[in-house]
Amino acid sequence: MKTLISVIALALALTGCTENKEPAAKAPPSATVTPAAKPVAEKSVGGDAAAGNAIAERECKGCHGLDGRGVAPGIPHLAAQRARYLLLALTEYKEVRRTHAALRELARRLTETELRNVVAYYASQPPVSAAAGAKGVQQASLLEKGKSLAAGCAKCHGEDGNSRTPGTPSLAGQQPHYLVTAIQEYHRGDRRTAAMKSMLRDASRLELESLALYYASRAPAQRPAPAFGDPAAGEPLTAMCGGCHGPGGVSRDAATPSLAGQDPQYLVRSIKAYRTSRQHWGMQRYVAGLSDKDIENITAFYVVQKSQPADTVPSSARDLAAKCDRCHDTEDSAKMVVPILRGQDKDYLVMALRAYRDDKRESTTMHKMSIIYSNAIIDDIASYYASQQRDKR
Ligand code: HEC
Ligand code: HEC
Ligand code: HEC
Ligand code: HEC
Repeated sequence: MKTLISVIALALALTGCTENKEPAAKAPPSATVTPAAKPVAEKSVGGDAAAGNAIAERECKGCHGLDGRGVAPGIPHLAAQRARYLLLALTEYKEVRRTHAALRELARRLTETELRNVVAYYASQPPVSAAAGAKGVQQASLLEKGKSLAAGCAKCHGEDGNSRTPGTPSLAGQQPHYLVTAIQEYHRGDRRTAAMKSMLRDASRLELESLALYYASRAPAQRPAPAFGDPAAGEPLTAMCGGCHGPGGVSRDAATPSLAGQDPQYLVRSIKAYRTSRQHWGMQRYVAGLSDKDIENITAFYVVQKSQPADTVPSSARDLAAKCDRCHDTEDSAKMVVPILRGQDKDYLVMALRAYRDDKRESTTMHKMSIIYSNAIIDDIASYYASQQRDKR
């Protein structure tokens, strides 16, 4: 579950984060700070690049190349990275705030001066060309991937996830975490339905997530009142549902489904299912006391409510990157030492982001940011950055 902790309000959470966490450098520059101007900033580690060359040749070349290009996927490019960040990273390995046996050993064995020199050397190398690091460029965007997978669902769930088949639920606008869970429940046989059981059995988590994000982003259609039930009689009964399912059945919680605008037959059947076969501690309790008539009225109420797309999905990696760049793409980082992401190796970026999310790499800032990422979003943003050209330093 941890991996999908939730795709919750990604956009929201990010805005929240970046708002409070605007680079510390935005504070008035203090007199004691290292030289602030761009080119001079690199000098702050004070290394001798020529002396560093020899160390790179001796100690690092086998993995990072002499040109600072990781020799295999998963090994970061060091070329044209900020020197202060490289030095910080080596310190982190040394102090085991980041774990890597070989680097820890190296960082302990080399003197402080040697470390500064080798860092100055790699920082001064010309950037790895993005073309070489750009395996991801051609890759379809996340939503496009989801869309192509969704083609196989359209015949029952409708184009764009708005079902027109009575008894088959709409998926448009549905909360993405819930959608993934639901599909997994069918696979495990927790929800018994012939139609859904075999669907997507072999899909990877990444595929399920992109599918879920795709549906979450679709606009749900407004539905007419069903032939049964009375929305006005149903409304007061939904008071106890709204705390979880949201006012008017538009859920704000990634694990709780929206009910607004859902197919009426499906709603009746699924509410009843919690009285018999479908397991959920919360739901079973809340529906146990409802009569069949109550269920019809509640359903009539939710069916006619106006739904909306789940507010969770950055429309593109580019949008998301705009938030990351407030820290990562500014030279104005007098206090915070932040790595350049553009042109980095994709596999390395994926690894690093998962490590922050799963608490395997220390950084309060990055952990808070990435706790909300699904693997699919991580994959997308990593491809995006890998395809961007890094500037010459
Ligand atoms: C055995 C292969 C190997 C050798 C030798 C090696 N590295 Fe690394 N280096 C790696 C790998 C793999 C990572 C990513 C580790 C991780 O996930 O934290 C890395 C990460 C780094 C980072 C962090 C980069 C970032 O973007 O956070 C720095 C800085 C670094 N190495 C510098 C060096 C220097 C300087 C040398 C030589 C003194 C060196 N490395 C030798 C494999 C190696
Ligand atoms: C043959 C028709 C059919 C196809 C094709 C189909 N489904 Fe379904 N799906 C259903 C029916 C019927 C239900 C309601 C089952 C139930 O009552 O539990 C359902 C339920 C679901 C649910 C649960 C929704 C909720 O609100 O709990 C999800 C999620 C879902 N389908 C996703 C998909 C995806 C994704 C695909 C395509 C890969 C797909 N389905 C293909 C018929 C189909
Ligand atoms: C304590 C929080 C909570 C309350 C209160 C609650 N629900 Fe739920 N409901 C959930 C969660 C979580 C799920 C998803 C459970 C699952 O995965 O089976 C759910 C699922 C459902 C579903 C299935 C939707 C689908 O797409 O398959 C329906 C229908 C539903 N609830 C109706 C209601 C109604 C009606 C009420 C009030 C009488 C209510 N719920 C009260 C949390 C709640
Ligand atoms: C509030 C500032 C801030 C924001 C916003 C931010 N980061 Fe970071 N990021 C940092 C800092 C500081 C580090 C260095 C932490 C460390 O030393 O491990 C970092 C490190 C990273 C690394 C490790 C890079 C490497 O070379 O090892 C990756 C990957 C990363 N961030 C990706 C992102 C992405 C993607 C976003 C946007 C979704 C983002 N960051 C938003 C501050 C930020």
